Amino acid sequence: MKVLIINGSPRKNGNTSIALEEMIKIFDAENVESELIHIGNKDIRGCIACGSCFKSGKCVFDDLVNEIAPKFEACDGLVIGSPVYYASANATLVAFLTRLFYSTHFDKTMKVGASVVCARRGGLSATFDELNKFFTISGMPVASSQYWNSIHGRVAGEAAQDAEGLQVMRVLARNMTFLMKSIALGKEAYGLPEKEESKRTDFIR
Ligand SMILES: Cc1cc2nc3c(=O)[nH]c(=O)nc-3n(C[C@H](O)[C@H](O)[C@H](O)COP(=O)(O)O)c2cc1C
Repeated sequence: MKVLIINGSPRKNGNTSIALEEMIKIFDAENVESELIHIGNKDIRGCIACGSCFKSGKCVFDDLVNEIAPKFEACDGLVIGSPVYYASANATLVAFLTRLFYSTHFDKTMKVGASVVCARRGGLSATFDELNKFFTISGMPVASSQYWNSIHGRVAGEAAQDAEGLQVMRVLARNMTFLMKSIALGKEAYGLPEKEESKRTDFIR
């Protein structure tokens, strides 16, 4: 059982990291392997809609996106963490996720997704919705907690004082573990849901 964790904050030891580390403690206790990758301070450009990935199944820009794609393919669950910037996710993370999800063709069905957001004060639930949409267009069930998965803090380290936020992260990691284990059992017993050939109607015909 393996979880891939992407931290979209440019601050490696910032507040998003505190939330993600709180989850890792639970994954460790539950014997779930986890790998945390910081991408927020990397130079990751956006998608240029060249369509080259339609044929190749990988991005035309051979950077972290293509490097991390096999880890995504291999994992049972994906956690995405982001600081809130102007009531939205960090732009580097959005560029990374857009290219990762668009360029890869492997089946993501039933990999469990969880997003974690961090802010001084506002824009948390909008960012949470934004990130969850990567999962919900990909057949990925979304793990949830006792509250929306957010933590508060401005200066790096402040999130450690948010007792409720930390609890939300622990509960989220436990719920996510339960979902991943249940899905693994379900796959063994029933297999993945039947696939239909994709229909695309672009609203013009
Ligand atoms: C460019 C920028 C925009 C920000 N926008 C918001 C915002 O919309 N709402 C908010 O509450 N905090 C905002 N913040 C504060 C960060 O979300 C906050 O400092 C958070 O702890 C950063 O997480 P990190 O330590 O993981 O990087 C912003 C910070 C920056 C640098």
